[in-house]
This record gives sequence, C-alpha cells and structure tokens, in this order.
Amino acid sequence: MSTRTARSLGPDLVLAGTVAKRAEILVVGLTSGPDGPEMALSEGIVDEDVLAEILDSLIAVGATGKPEQLTRVPAPSALSVTSVLAVGLGSADRLGSEQIRKSAGAAARSLSGIDTVATTLSILDLGAAAEGFALGAYSFTEFKSSMTAPGPDSQPLARVELLVPSPRTKETKATLARSAAIAEAVATAREFVNTPPSHLYPAEFAARAKALGVEAGLTVQVLDEKALEKGGYGGIIGVGKGSSRQPRLVRLEYASKKRGARKVALVGKGITFDTGGISIKPAAGMENMTSDMGGAAAVISTVVLAAKLGLPVNVVAYVPMAENMPSATAQRPGDVLTQYGGITIEVVNTDAEGRLILADAMVRAGEDNPDYMIDTATLTGAQMVALGNRTPGVMGTDEFRDRVASISQSVGENGWAMPLPEELRGDLDSKVADMANVTPHRWGGMLVAAHYLKEFVPEGVQWAHIDVAGPAYNTSGPWGYTGKGGTGVPVRTMISVLEDIAVNG
Ligand code: BES
Ligand code: ZN
Ligand code: MN
Repeated sequence: MSTRTARSLGPDLVLAGTVAKRAEILVVGLTSGPDGPEMALSEGIVDEDVLAEILDSLIAVGATGKPEQLTRVPAPSALSVTSVLAVGLGSADRLGSEQIRKSAGAAARSLSGIDTVATTLSILDLGAAAEGFALGAYSFTEFKSSMTAPGPDSQPLARVELLVPSPRTKETKATLARSAAIAEAVATAREFVNTPPSHLYPAEFAARAKALGVEAGLTVQVLDEKALEKGGYGGIIGVGKGSSRQPRLVRLEYASKKRGARKVALVGKGITFDTGGISIKPAAGMENMTSDMGGAAAVISTVVLAAKLGLPVNVVAYVPMAENMPSATAQRPGDVLTQYGGITIEVVNTDAEGRLILADAMVRAGEDNPDYMIDTATLTGAQMVALGNRTPGVMGTDEFRDRVASISQSVGENGWAMPLPEELRGDLDSKVADMANVTPHRWGGMLVAAHYLKEFVPEGVQWAHIDVAGPAYNTSGPWGYTGKGGTGVPVRTMISVLEDIAVNG
C-alpha cells in the first residue's frame, strides 16, 4: 500500500478585503504603459496616494513593468506590510489570464522563506492569480534529507491572501474553490512525476492511484499481471515483462449524478521508467525517463478533480502502468504480440513501448461506450522536434482535436492541432503481423505514433491524442508558475475540456 505521507502541495489560499497585519509583503502588478510603468488597478483596496508613492519608489529603482520582472521596495508607512513586491505584467492592452498566472507564479517562486503575502493581482483575475501563486510556490522536497533540507529561508511560501472587492460573495468563493482544486490536481500530477522510479513502480503507482481515487469517491479496479495475462492484454504484458516489477492496469470511474450526462474516457501512458528495453536508449539524459508516466499522472489527477468539482459528466479513466527494462525476460525486437482485442503487432523497436500499452487500454476503454476519448502520453521525441518543450501536439478526429487544442490554448497549456497525413499510415505495415510498432524511417514520428493509436479508437468515438513528451517535464530553468521537473501538463486542458463537454455536450 501507499507509503506516502500527507504533505502540503502548496500554500493556503484565502480571500481578503483588506491587507491583514500578518501579511509581510504586498504583491502588486505593474503594467508597462507608453509613458512608463503603471500600477495595475486595485479597486480602492489600497489608497490612491499610497499607490502613487509605491509607483514612485518602483520607478526610482528602475522597474519597467516588463513581463515577470520582479522589483521589491520598502512599503510606505501607511501599509502594515514591510515591503512591496511588484511583478511585471507587460502591456496593459494585451493583458490576459495566462500572463497574470505566470507573473503570480514568478512572484511566488521568489517568495520562499516568507510565510504570508497579500496580493492585488486577484483583483485583475482571481482564478489566475490563485493558480499562479499556488503552482509557483510548489516544490518537491520529499527526498531532501536533514543533511540538505531547506532551512527556514527556503521554505516555500505558506499563505496567500487574495485581495478582492467582495470576498464574501458566493461567486468569489466558488471561483477560488475551483482554482484551488485545479492547482491541487496539477500539484498532485507533478508529485507523481517527480517521485523517482526507485519509489514509483507500477504496483506502487497503482496503489497510490487507488488510494486517491477511493478517497474522492471513485470506483477503482486494479488488474495485476495475472489478470492482465488472463485478459489478453498483450501490449502491457509485452512491455512489462523485462522488469522484475510487474505491470498494472488501473481503471477509475467517476459517475456523475446527472442523468443523460456524456461519457468521456481518459487514457494515460504510465511507463514508470523507460530505458528503451532491448532497443536501449543512450545514457545521456536517460534519467529524464522518470517522467514517462506524465500522461498517467495527469489522467489520474484529472478524474479525481472531476469528482471533487462534481462535474455533470461521466469519466472513466484507464491507466496502463509498466516499467520498460532490458533483461533476459524482456521482449525482443522482432517479437510479435497480440494487443487486447486481437490485433497482432510486430515489435520492431522495443523503445516504441508507449503505444503498445496505450492500445490495450484504449480498446478496453471502448468497451465502456464513451462519447469521447482523450489519451495523453509522453509518447515521442518527435513531439519536441516538431513543437519544442512547451507545446503539446494534439491529434485525433478533426472536430474534437480542434476543440481540445483551442481549449488548451485558452488555459495557457497551448496545445497545437497537428494533422494525420494519410500516407504515413502505410509505413506501419508489417510483413509478419497486422502492423509494426514503428516505421522504417523517422519522418513525422509524432504523427506516426498517433496513426498507430488511431487503429485502436472505437468506431464513432470522438478522439483526441495529446503528446506531452516535452511539456510534461521541465528540464531547463523555472519560468512563470513552472518549476523544474513535473509540470502537471495537460491536467488543466483536460479538466477544461470536461467542463466544456458538461456544458455543451
Ligand atoms: N518515452 C519516449 C518518448 C520521449 C522522449 C519522451 C524524450 C520524453 C522525452 C518514448 O517511449 C520513445 O522512446 N519514443 C521513441 C519512438 C521511436 C522508437 C519510434 C522516440 O521518440 O525516439
Ligand atoms: Zn516511453
Ligand atoms: Mn520508449
């Protein structure tokens, strides 16, 4: 069972109408106007003269309001806080939610060692400010022993007072509750991704997913290796058999109370470590393959979040989990396996393992008769070649693909619609089996992987495939509300798609 200890996944987020005594720092937004920086609006919560005094100090030390620029000045004596931290928002006429989220995140990252701050960013956009602060303050410290444990100066920010004109209205409270729940789900996904493969292997991952799901009132089933073998899950068994740690398939179901609600299937790749198997990867960078369960982490967090938000939509999540290792029992290049449902596959390259475990899970998910299916995976290096590290590739049936990409853009995860050129499908033909798991060439690798998955999408189901090979894991420096390591992408895309389906069908 789970050995996970309860740990805070972010700061407390509270609504406030005035700057309380316990706040040490006031965080304000600064836009860049044609005549220099300007204070972003504060709706009377902070006095105009005090604001003017703060702006003078900020200008005196060179603040310009350019995006995410941080400037800290002593507070005017009229305020109870000791200092004011201004964060740049860029041009006022281009200011949107994502910039507020990013700026709040950049501020939060700079505030480790501080207990409580108050902020006026919430007056501009409460939800975005809350999400930005919560996600920017997240850090993964589970494996920092007392030898190097962060001292009081580097403890993450503990409490954020979000200033709003009317903190007690139902609508305001609901907005904060939704954003806090979303941030918690993103942090949960990050936590899974950041937990090293020594500690997060299929059986343990399944146990943690089950514990989270049961706590949220979901129906959870876990298939172990014997059940997978018996059930004919050839893809999950084939990938998992090189490891001493046995594979799993987890099913989590959220049944909404609403009659006639749509049903959405979510499927996430859960490779707890990807060595490549016998088609082994080079040593350089292999440690990053701890992130190869980023799709699974996002799917688990999303179905739990859907239940917590009580969305009027049914969600059934399937999460195949395996460790892709080379060994005497590993599958070989050239082996043939039978995916769940009967399609036979020539495993030409054991490093194209994600599609093998996903295909089994997608066919199984189809048996639940969903209206929509979203799968997400750290599937291909080609995703990063095509779109870089921060832009998920979205493929699938045309209409739903475009809908998912457009929602992803609107929440700042920035998924981009990609085509499935017909001619690439033929390159997956095999001489010995129904299909091969790779093409003889490397062109359009992200699209080829999607073509493979398309073969397993049930007839009539609207489908979107989100490749997050780069976006699920940040190997470079922190930016905005994204620190190093797991990012939680695409949790916010998927929950917003579920909300959209709940409203629009
Ligand atoms: N997990 C990798 C994809 C990946 C690469 C994710 C880099 C994150 C960062 C996947 O299993 C894989 O190895 N894909 C192969 C497919 C190829 C053999 C067709 C790849 O992209 O090289
Ligand atoms: Zn992989
Ligand atoms: Mn691989």
